[in-house]
This record gives sequence, C-alpha cells and structure tokens, in this order.
Amino acid sequence: MARIKVRKDGPYLVTGEVELTDHEGKPIAPQNPENFALCRCGHSRTKPFCDGAHKAVGFNDQV
Ligand code: FES
Repeated sequence: MARIKVRKDGPYLVTGEVELTDHEGKPIAPQNPENFALCRCGHSRTKPFCDGAHKAVGFNDQV
C-alpha cells in the first residue's frame, strides 16, 4: 500500500509503489521509486521532487 505523509513545513513523503507522471501522463522515474519526496513549497530546482530548498526559503505550511 502506498502512503503519502505530509511533512510539517516540508515535502510530501511518498512510500510504497505508486505511478508518478507529468501533466501529459508520461512516467517520471524517481531515483528510488518506492521512497521519494515531492516538493510542496514550489522552490525546488528538481521539481517535482524536493531538493531541500524549503529549508532555505523558510517554508511555513501554516501561512
Ligand atoms: S518542499 Fe522541499 S524543496 Fe519544496
């Protein structure tokens, strides 16, 4: 079973088997397809994946 965990002030952590696609339905292959983080702050340079930029920009999910 797949699981998506919302990290406080951080990314969506995806674990388990899921299919990730772009806006046209083309597959996107994470380095580790059963454990990866999706950017939620909009500042990653490796979208759709989190690259840690949320820390540098002080992303706050309560605002
Ligand atoms: S959530 Fe980590 S870079 Fe956006």
